[in-house]
Amino acid sequence: MIKTKLKAKTKTRKFRKIAHETHSDVKAPLVEALEQFYKNPMMQFHIPGHTGGHASYQPFKKLIGSRALLLDTTDEFDNLGTLHPATGPIKEAQELAAHAFGSQRTFFLVGGSTIGNLTLAMCMSKKGKKVIVNRNCHRSILTGMIISGAEPVWVLPEKLEEWELWGEIEPASIEKALKENDDVAMVWITNPTYEGVVSNVKAIADICKKYDVPLIVDEAHGCLWNFNKNLPESSLHLGADAVVHSLHKTGGSMSQSSMLHITKGSKFDPDEVERTLQLLQTTSPSMLLMASLDAARANLESKRGKRQLSRAIQYAKFVRNKLHKIEGVNVLEATENFNQDITKIFISVDGLSGKRLESILEIDFDIEVESASDIGVLLLINIGNTKEEIQYLVNAVEKIAHSNYSDIYYIEKRKHMPMLTPQIVMNPREAYYSEKETIEKEKAVGRISAEVIAECPPGISILLPGELITEAHMPYLNEYKWLEVIKK
Ligand SMILES: Cc1ncc(COP(=O)(O)O)c(C=O)c1O
Repeated sequence: MIKTKLKAKTKTRKFRKIAHETHSDVKAPLVEALEQFYKNPMMQFHIPGHTGGHASYQPFKKLIGSRALLLDTTDEFDNLGTLHPATGPIKEAQELAAHAFGSQRTFFLVGGSTIGNLTLAMCMSKKGKKVIVNRNCHRSILTGMIISGAEPVWVLPEKLEEWELWGEIEPASIEKALKENDDVAMVWITNPTYEGVVSNVKAIADICKKYDVPLIVDEAHGCLWNFNKNLPESSLHLGADAVVHSLHKTGGSMSQSSMLHITKGSKFDPDEVERTLQLLQTTSPSMLLMASLDAARANLESKRGKRQLSRAIQYAKFVRNKLHKIEGVNVLEATENFNQDITKIFISVDGLSGKRLESILEIDFDIEVESASDIGVLLLINIGNTKEEIQYLVNAVEKIAHSNYSDIYYIEKRKHMPMLTPQIVMNPREAYYSEKETIEKEKAVGRISAEVIAECPPGISILLPGELITEAHMPYLNEYKWLEVIKK
């Protein structure tokens, strides 16, 4: 069965009974300012033109609720403060976030961690300089290099061959790259990996200090770590100079909202970072997104949020424990070589590709997983998951493992996590701005890519501008008919 169209989901979720609890133990100035804005409506002769939802498409308004549209405003109005420069409740909310995460300065991002990465690239990496970067970095870091003109120096993390996943970054490989290269603007690592593999950031930070090179950690998937000691230590406290967090991924804020932290004693100048952010961010930042960052931080600091997080950790342990006991189910676990964020559970079921497992969970069990690869699926145990959902998940995987689902349509159909070392034959920025042509994929071997190709998730590149296209890329490009290459 090929998953072409999923059945419409009209069912309401079965298990959601969330008790109402208040947050009297924490402050959220931006949420409070937005509440005041709601309670004191003004006659509106300003943007957004839907005018508090009066001019919205009615089915849309009905769907999302009229209050959401009444609250949809941007900075500048009604004592809400401004984002650039940070003033009023927005400034206060950013300061509270800096305090909660233990940074020197924290900036709200309304274009995801992508904007944080682009900002850091613009601040530090310059044309002709080198950036030491792990092979499995997110595509936004490559975009940062296209913007800045820096040259990537690849560091290959360890390979978890049987899972077809990238593992931890060895500190020794960072040191080797630093020894072998002059003109290094910075070291830029991703920690944890999308699947929760954690590297020894402290050792890497010590090496960077020895070579007097700044360290950026893309900790997009680790924003909860600061709030529970059973999770890995955040790079904010391990010697990184700047850290990016996608609060919207696991921290509880709304999609697209993230934070950029400049650590205490950082080599980055926070004022320069702010000026660069001003170049890249929208001039109409959504108050809903920014208030959701304030709310997520407040929730994680509150007693209730702390309970939610420790419950999620217990649930993750429970799921791991149960899944280990099911015959035919395999769970990625930490080894003596690497640590792990246990809330990210990568599993496989014997006889099924990850894509097939994903589709069975979705179609037969109404369970949507975070992602699927050829091998397995990634389950995120979130702060909002309930005990019943956790039990239902375990039961579903057990039923699948004990059934006779076949996998004939999925095997080898699509690969999306290449574990190749890119052969960069041209500077990525130069390649991106060169004269290009679009050719059939089959004719592209031996040519130089002019585009970034990266399946999201996990957003790890299959090709980037300046990379030589080889036969080895082909299994990862099944979905592509045409490629953009440098004109001969
Ligand atoms: C490691 C990593 N860094 C950065 C990003 C970009 O984050 P955002 O989607 O918040 O822009 C992602 C997104 O998946 C990611 O996986």
